[in-house]
Amino acid sequence: MNNAPIGVFDSGLGGLTAVRQLRRLLPNEDIVYFGDTGRVPYGTRSNSTIKRYAMQDAKFLLKHKVKIVIAACGTVSSVASNLKNDLPVPYTGVVSPTCFAAAKVTENKKIGVIGTSATINSHSYRDLIHSFDSEIEVVEQDCPLFVPLVENGFIDKDDPITRLTIERYLKPVIDAKVDTIILGCTHYPIIKEAISAVVGSSVKLIDSGKETAIYAAKILKENNLLCDENRTGKCEFYVSDTPDGFENVARVFLGENVEHTVEQINIELY
Ligand code: DGL
Repeated sequence: MNNAPIGVFDSGLGGLTAVRQLRRLLPNEDIVYFGDTGRVPYGTRSNSTIKRYAMQDAKFLLKHKVKIVIAACGTVSSVASNLKNDLPVPYTGVVSPTCFAAAKVTENKKIGVIGTSATINSHSYRDLIHSFDSEIEVVEQDCPLFVPLVENGFIDKDDPITRLTIERYLKPVIDAKVDTIILGCTHYPIIKEAISAVVGSSVKLIDSGKETAIYAAKILKENNLLCDENRTGKCEFYVSDTPDGFENVARVFLGENVEHTVEQINIELY
């Protein structure tokens, strides 16, 4: 048993999709979340910058004595795979759990992968899927405008700007007749309904935040790191920009009030 917190980080708000699922699956666990809102987006930056940011984010969480680090960020998971070996505690990103889930549910062996430009350029999802089954066709598409849309609250499925953006980016994926799409960036589950409205309800959408939470729970269980069941978990949120906007949006994404529990920190100190 281990009552230390679970550490989760993302470039911004997207990782809250993993936190929401962790809260459902493991309500007794404490969670420390860091959203690098001062430096979002990561997906348009160079690999060396993303690796440096990711290490700083992980170090911040380690200072809080977390028992596991979860990179709830498709971009970090794709580019900074070194984290797995460089951290003194168990680590997971989002790529492996999401690929396992997608490969399991595709029936026509055609999977779409959407993510940031850095994620798609790394081919991380495609290569892992092909390592399970080389016959699966993987159609990759970067969607660089999705993260700014989500960070700025353009999340309503009926918002014409959101819909047009999705239609424009996803046309090649729809044309390829995939039956499964990996939402390879943790911001994307927030516009899942809008994506589903464009691609059709028969296409299965794999939520990277959700699959990663399930996988992290499994790691904790297997390593005997789950906490005492008689406690109630609490969350601490940290951001690198002003917390004002974060509080409002996080309340919607998490379905709970986060007022007074968000603190701004200087990530460059780590
Ligand atoms: N949530 C991050 C991801 O999964 C967003 C990336 C970004 O900041 O560009 O990739």
